[in-house]
Amino acid sequence: MTILMGVDIGGSGIKAAPVDVGTGTLTEPRRKLATPRPATPDSVALAVSDLAGGFDSVGPIGVGFPGVVRRGYVGTAANLEPSWIGLDAATLLSSSLSKRPVVTINDADAAGLAEVRFGAAQGVLGVVVTVTLGTGIGTAVFNNGVLAPNTEYGHLVIAGVEAERLASGRARNAEDMGWRHWTRHLEEFLITLERLIWPDLFIIGGGISAEFDRFCADLHVDTPIRAASLGNDAGIVGAALAAAEDF
Ligand code: BGC
Repeated sequence: MTILMGVDIGGSGIKAAPVDVGTGTLTEPRRKLATPRPATPDSVALAVSDLAGGFDSVGPIGVGFPGVVRRGYVGTAANLEPSWIGLDAATLLSSSLSKRPVVTINDADAAGLAEVRFGAAQGVLGVVVTVTLGTGIGTAVFNNGVLAPNTEYGHLVIAGVEAERLASGRARNAEDMGWRHWTRHLEEFLITLERLIWPDLFIIGGGISAEFDRFCADLHVDTPIRAASLGNDAGIVGAALAAAEDF
């Protein structure tokens, strides 16, 4: 049994837990801290080390990051401080974690990876698109189980407005939109994705997926849709998988 630490940095919370990477299950209950504000590299690194330090674990640590991240380097950070951009996040986080190796992956890619390996998209062939609806909109695209990393479709501009501003979980709460109104925005986003990449399956993840039954019947799209099955643990599990596979 291989157990590795997974950390999920989000726009509003940071979660961590040790994960059995052979089964995709948490071996201890996850712990969570609010994302510090301002979410600078130093304040977030400190929060990550506080969280991870609460567990007894060894080996590499997988970290899901809410922006584009390539070979450890941050490309975008829409819901954190802009000072992240261009930074080697893997090295920064490693230095606050007693120099343990850190493997970084986009947070939605991590959640999608967990769903493809152990969750709602397990064994599904073709193009699977996971959409996470939280502070932002994250997307993860897989073809026959293989990830095309760092797709950022949540920033698609539809009728002059970024999709993330209208169809994320935060948009629904902040604007106090009714479910129907918000679902129409989400539907428009999914239809735009259908036109562009022709998915075989959508997986809806993020905190709001717990309320999937409240909106799924009103989503009129051609592609089959399933709720994510790993819920809030998906990002943690996928980050640990990334560490195991050294993405
Ligand atoms: C970021 C994505 C991220 C998503 C969810 C977006 O604003 O650009 O990289 O996956 O939020 O956190």
